[in-house]
Amino acid sequence: MPRFEQEPDPVFWELNASLEFDRRLAPYDVRQSRAHARALRTAGVLDDAELDALLAGLDAVEAELESGEFPFEAADEDIHMAIERRLTEVAGRVGGKIHTGRSRNDQVATDLAMFTADRAAVARELLAECLQQILELAGEHREARLPGYTHLQRAQPVSLGHHLLAWFWMLRRDVDRFASAGAAAGAMPLGSGALAGLNWQLDRGAVAAELGFESVVENSIDGVSNRDFALDYLSAAAVCATHLSRIGAEIVLWSTSEFGFCRPAEEFSSGSSIMPQKMNPDAAELLRAKAPRVVAALTTLTGVIHGLPLAYSKDLQEDKEPLFDAADTLELSLRALAGMLPGIEFDHERMAAAAADEMVAATDVADLLVRRGLPFREAHAVVGGLVRHAVDEGIDLSAIPPSELAGFSELLDEEYYEVLGEGSWLDSKVSRGGTSAAAVAEQLRLAEASLAGLR
Ligand code: ARG
Repeated sequence: MPRFEQEPDPVFWELNASLEFDRRLAPYDVRQSRAHARALRTAGVLDDAELDALLAGLDAVEAELESGEFPFEAADEDIHMAIERRLTEVAGRVGGKIHTGRSRNDQVATDLAMFTADRAAVARELLAECLQQILELAGEHREARLPGYTHLQRAQPVSLGHHLLAWFWMLRRDVDRFASAGAAAGAMPLGSGALAGLNWQLDRGAVAAELGFESVVENSIDGVSNRDFALDYLSAAAVCATHLSRIGAEIVLWSTSEFGFCRPAEEFSSGSSIMPQKMNPDAAELLRAKAPRVVAALTTLTGVIHGLPLAYSKDLQEDKEPLFDAADTLELSLRALAGMLPGIEFDHERMAAAAADEMVAATDVADLLVRRGLPFREAHAVVGGLVRHAVDEGIDLSAIPPSELAGFSELLDEEYYEVLGEGSWLDSKVSRGGTSAAAVAEQLRLAEASLAGLR
C-alpha cells in the first residue's frame, strides 16, 4: 500500500521537480553511486555478484547519459530518481539496493560539492590564463605612459604596465578565493543519510578518497544542511565578476574617441547596423554588465539559506540554478577576457599626450618644496596658488616666468621647470609598488613568480 492515494497535482509537479536543471549533476551522481556501491559491498550489504551487476548497470546508464540516449520520463522528479529508476530497469531488482544507507539529502549535497569543487578549479585555470595575458601586455607596454585617474580626473601619470599590473593583482586575489571555495567543498556529506546518520557502518573515508574529497563532514545534520561551499564559490565569483566589470569598464572608456587610448580587439567587437563607422566594445561592455547577475546569485542563495532551520528542507533545491548560472556566466566572462586581451591595440601617442598635461605634475612640484623644508600642507597651498594662476591666465604651469615664482614661494627656482619637464614624473615614483620603471620592473618579476607558483 503506497503512502499516497492521490497523484501529485501537475502544478505541484512543475514547482517541485528539479530534473530540468539538476540533470547536469548526472556525471557526479553516477560516480558517487559507484563509490557508494563499493562501500555497500565492503560493509557486506551487497555480495560480489550484486556489486558487479550494479557497476555494470551504472556503466550502461552513464553511457546513455553521455550519448544523450538516456530515456528521461515525465515521472522523473530529479536526476537522482531518474538514475535510480533507470539503473533498476537496466540491472534488474538489484538496482533497488543502491539507495541502501543513502538519502537524497546527503546524495544531492555530495553531488553539489563535487560540482562546486570542479567549478572552482576551472575558475582558477581560466584566471591563470587571464593573468598570463595581462602579464604579457604589462611587459610589452611598461614604457608607455598615461594619466592615472582619481575621480576620473587626471591625477598623476603612470606607466601602462603599472596600470595593467593593477588588473593582475586584482584577479590574482580571486585565484585564492576560488582555492578556498574549492577547499570548502572538500568535505564529503555522503554518509550523513537523511540527517541522523546510517544504520550501516559504511567506510566513508574510502568513498571520500575515491571521489576526490579531502575529508568527510563530521556531523550528519551539518552534512545535509550545509551549502557553505556554494556560498563560498558564489562569493568568490561575485568578487571576481565585479573585478571583470571594472576591467571591462576601463576598456570601454579607453576605447571612446574622447579617450582614444585603445582599440578593442575586432573579434570581440561589433559594428552598428546603421552607423558604418562604429566599432563597439561589446565584449568589454558585457563584462561590465554580467557582474550584477553573479552577485544576484550570491544574494539568492544567501536568501534561500537565511533563517532556514536545520536540517534539509526543499528550499535547498533552490541552490542549484543560481550556482549553475553564476558558474556559466563567470566562466564565459573569463574566457572572453582572456580572448580579447591580446587583440587590444593601445595608442601610446594618445596616452602620452594626455599624460603630458602639466597639471598632473602638481604633486611633484609640491614634493620639490617639501625637499626644501616646507611642510607638505604648506607646499600643497603654494602649488594650489600656482595652478590657480595658470588656469586664470590660460597658460601652462611652465609658462609662469622665473621672475614671478618667488611671489609664490622663496623656495622655487629653476628646478621647478625641470620637475615639470616631461619624463621626470614617472621616475620619481620610486617607492615599492610605485610607477617608476625600476619599481614596475620589480613588480613584473613578482607577478611572474606569483603566476609561476600557480601553474
Ligand atoms: N531534488 C532535491 C534537491 O535538489 C533532492 C533532495 C530531495 N530530498 C528530499 N528529502 N525530498 O534538493
